Amino acid sequence: MRGAATQAMSDVVEERQQLRCPPAAAPLRAAARRPAGIVARSSHTALGIARRSRLASGPGGLQQNANLFLREPLESAAASMNGFWYRKKRLYCEQVSVTKAAGTVGTPFYLYSQAALERNFQVFDSSFREIPHLTCYAIKANSNIAILRVFRSLGAGFDIVSGGELFRALKAGADPQKIVFSGVGKAQEEIDLALKHRILLFNVESAAEMKMLEERARSVRKVAQVSLRVNPDVDPRTHPYIATGLRQHKFGVPMEDAAELYRIASRSRHLRIGGIGCHIGSQITRLEPFVDAVKKLKGLVAALSASGIHIRHLDLGGGLGISYNDEDPPPPEAYAKAICEIVKDMECTVLLEPGRVIVGSAAILVTRVLLTKQNGSKNFIVVDAGMNDLLRPSLYGSYHAIQPERVNGRGLWKADVVGPVCESGDFLARDREIQIPRKGDLLAVMNAGAYGMVLASNYNSRPRAAEVIVKERRMKVIRRREGFIDLVRGEAVNPL
Ligand code: LLP
Repeated sequence: MRGAATQAMSDVVEERQQLRCPPAAAPLRAAARRPAGIVARSSHTALGIARRSRLASGPGGLQQNANLFLREPLESAAASMNGFWYRKKRLYCEQVSVTKAAGTVGTPFYLYSQAALERNFQVFDSSFREIPHLTCYAIKANSNIAILRVFRSLGAGFDIVSGGELFRALKAGADPQKIVFSGVGKAQEEIDLALKHRILLFNVESAAEMKMLEERARSVRKVAQVSLRVNPDVDPRTHPYIATGLRQHKFGVPMEDAAELYRIASRSRHLRIGGIGCHIGSQITRLEPFVDAVKKLKGLVAALSASGIHIRHLDLGGGLGISYNDEDPPPPEAYAKAICEIVKDMECTVLLEPGRVIVGSAAILVTRVLLTKQNGSKNFIVVDAGMNDLLRPSLYGSYHAIQPERVNGRGLWKADVVGPVCESGDFLARDREIQIPRKGDLLAVMNAGAYGMVLASNYNSRPRAAEVIVKERRMKVIRRREGFIDLVRGEAVNPL
């Protein structure tokens, strides 16, 4: 934790130490001596920073363009759509300044806009209003129970993939009859827990899982509702690690095996055929893969119906992408329209499992600049958040825009933004044009709400970050920062 006093102190030290960056007042004056990678300041410095960094599209056609973000002054938080905006050159989350939040919890921390979370969910959910549907938020994207509660209060169901996620959903007050259980490898204890709570659907991904589910249901004298996850063999054109709907992937069962599996299910008194589903991948930025998959499922449902197997739930998974950089994904309305067009004459309730599109744009990761350094021609901004806090850049090479907490007018620098973890793969951004920072400055890693905190670890024995939610002028810590004691909880001091 860094208090305000420490901060002031480090500013002074910084003034003396930052010999390699041009001074704030005259970034161009020292052009000849400019360190490698410094980019000449454009006539509108702040816009220059954002030029390449389109902000995430909030759902609902609320596409934001890069220039909007740093154009000043933005007079209202509402204008920023994702809850983050600049007032008098300072970054705000709704009506709370990022500096104030940092002063309260220290850095690094995840900062959520409740308005953005609510709006994203509502826009998505209401886009499907013309068909019977249930939006089951995919807990894996962000599992903080306060955030789950936001969605629950808006009528959400939940998509879970583990006993832990079921526990979280129940803690958040979820109705078990709105919970679907996905995942390729469910353990017996997890199945038992889900049976006990009578969840809506088990998304079954193999014959072996179906057998196990049948055995468990029989032994506890319950009936499990089965939904087969089929693999429609559609290429979602996304990062290979997060594509799931191709034949070579571990997920789902081949479409041609579905009928036989449903027949097995229909012979058991402990299984009931509840639905069919697919999930073809994540961060999908085009409609075609979704359309192809839904059409294939529709054909399969018709064929099954002709052979006497009637499907009541059609689970279309998640996967709709957001704009981290220059992607241009369809807004939820367009996604919903394309789907509704195909399914409207089917007699099914449609289940949707969005994660990223609901939470992605609604949070930032706030981190503090520890120091800047140069290795030869390479510039580095070392910050106090690392790959253990936000893994996406290291794991997928993902782009996250990085915005300054304060627009300082010092010009731009081309640098890697790296964390303190002992791996060269520990970076948040590479070769990024970024406002020249000073030690102690705060930076905001944008669009960090999905697969951010949930992928955080204690690697390098780094306590995990805090999480803070803001609603208008109020803020609340919804997960306290871990301390050292949390690092060793459960460990034994003495070996044998
Ligand atoms: N349903 C199922 C069965 C899934 O496997 C997933 C995501 C979702 C729904 C939600 O997908 P979404 O709407 O969020 O795209 N860690 C990666 C993403 C992994 C996605 C895994 N499955 C990342 O940071 O990009």
